[in-house]
Amino acid sequence: MTPSLAERARALDPWWFQFEADGETFGGEVPRDTSRTATFFEWVEKLQLPVRTILELGSHEGNHTLQLASHPGVEKVVGLEGRSDNIARANFVKAAFDLPSIEFHEHNLEHFDPADWPRFDAVFCSGLLYHLPNPWELLPKIARLARHCVLVDTLYSEWPRDLVERTAGQWCNEPTGALAGFSERSFLLSFKSIAMLMMEHGLVVHHVTDYGQPRGKHHRILIFAEKTEAVRWKHWRSKAQSTTKETPEEGGDNAAKRALK
Ligand SMILES: C[S@@+](CC[C@H](N)C(=O)[O-])C[C@H]1O[C@@H](n2cnc3c(N)ncnc32)[C@H](O)[C@@H]1O
Repeated sequence: MTPSLAERARALDPWWFQFEADGETFGGEVPRDTSRTATFFEWVEKLQLPVRTILELGSHEGNHTLQLASHPGVEKVVGLEGRSDNIARANFVKAAFDLPSIEFHEHNLEHFDPADWPRFDAVFCSGLLYHLPNPWELLPKIARLARHCVLVDTLYSEWPRDLVERTAGQWCNEPTGALAGFSERSFLLSFKSIAMLMMEHGLVVHHVTDYGQPRGKHHRILIFAEKTEAVRWKHWRSKAQSTTKETPEEGGDNAAKRALK
């Protein structure tokens, strides 16, 4: 008899999240979070951003990847994850939900070079930044790769006491385990540092969810930001459309391009 999905998944234990496909439950015990992708698409739709390709950083078992790839209009999601066992579970999830538009790659994001990747319409980065010893390096790289928008969900330092390269935060001892980072220490950025790094690298913050209660010792936020070149483009496009007799479909864009020259 063919083994069930749950039996086959057991070969990849231990799982964190619980998944359900074709009426069968498999994986771990933790209920899947869907609020982050819901907020992400709420803002993508509010701002009418053309998001077809998404880069996810720290994709773990593919929980968010699956949600991102299942959204109408999304054509490709690339998940980068540093642990091969997490990638094996994520590929199991990809197969169980039959989503060929997903690709996972093993990659230590402490050493991420954006030049190795094409640009993506959006970058989705949840639960990763505070595991890195050099998060001030990753944020500008994310900003460079994103064509339209970025979601960052992270713990932050409420009482920054350390300064690295003008960036305030605090050094922490990094735990071990399937959800942790790869270095002994990680740097927890302050909210102000995150906001400043984003602004300096062309990201305009449209939305912040402050989770309020500290999770463990630290506070957590979700930030949705739009790339400023996209904001500038939209501004010129609407201006050009209102001053041209050309049709919005073609002429508006041509006029906007002329205006930007
Ligand atoms: C706390 S989990 C968050 C998982 C998921 N993104 C979420 O929001 O539910 C952190 C994930 O990032 C991965 N990770 C941590 N440090 C990493 C690094 N330097 N490079 C690549 N992946 C890393 C971990 O293996 C884990 O899958």
